Amino acid sequence: MPQHLAIVMDGNRRWAAKRGMPRALGHASGARRVRQIVQACSERGIRYLTLFAFSTENWQRPADEVSSLMRLLVHYLQKEVSDMHASGVRLKVVGELSRFDQRLQNLMASAQALTAHNNKITLTIAANYGGRWDMMQAVQAWQVANPSLSVAGMDEAAMRPYLSMAYAPDPELLIRTGGESRVSNFLLWQMAYTEMFFTDTLWPDFSASVLDEALVWFSARDRRFGACSQQAVS
Ligand code: IPE
Ligand code: IPE
Ligand code: MG
Repeated sequence: MPQHLAIVMDGNRRWAAKRGMPRALGHASGARRVRQIVQACSERGIRYLTLFAFSTENWQRPADEVSSLMRLLVHYLQKEVSDMHASGVRLKVVGELSRFDQRLQNLMASAQALTAHNNKITLTIAANYGGRWDMMQAVQAWQVANPSLSVAGMDEAAMRPYLSMAYAPDPELLIRTGGESRVSNFLLWQMAYTEMFFTDTLWPDFSASVLDEALVWFSARDRRFGACSQQAVS
């Protein structure tokens, strides 16, 4: 079982298009999946679940779609947080949050504060997140904390605490729904050795049974990390 599972929740628009529905309904159906998947991961003993909700590139979408995604984030934070809290979910939000309006930033801050001491599972929502942004902000934050040092002296271990998910182990497994086999600027640093499971299932159709399929696939991986296989005879 991975300790940390990351998911690119992709395919909402295609799910809606297939049904002749407006895109916003695809996103709403996708958002409704989240509760069930958090629950399923929690039951399976996964300690960290990280969901890619909005990328730094998603601002390029039509304005009405961006606002419907923002409304969903607000809705999610307002309606789901008390249930999450009751189920022991610690909520974290990572990304460049200053780009969101003040009301949304306040909701994010209060949801994180409310659930800060829960320890059943840590749910991280990546919002206005980009892997490249994360690395850049980490270098900058390191420099602010170490004004007298030169970045030439910074190594990987020194940078790590400044990455936005420093509180979690690197994800062992990534699931991407929606049929595309790419990372789309998600956790670039943290996914150096992540196993990647791609499924054609569109995110609003994702279920605990597809999750289990990915977990079974993961359990059969031989994770070598650049060294030799433990099974192989030399
Ligand atoms: C994922 O679904 C949700 C976000 C990126 C916010 P998409 O909206 O990308 O749906 P497809 O991939 O175009 O079907
Ligand atoms: C990745 O999906 C981002 C999220 C799921 C939030 P996209 O739909 O934005 O990715 P591309 O454009 O297909 O690479
Ligand atoms: Mg997409």
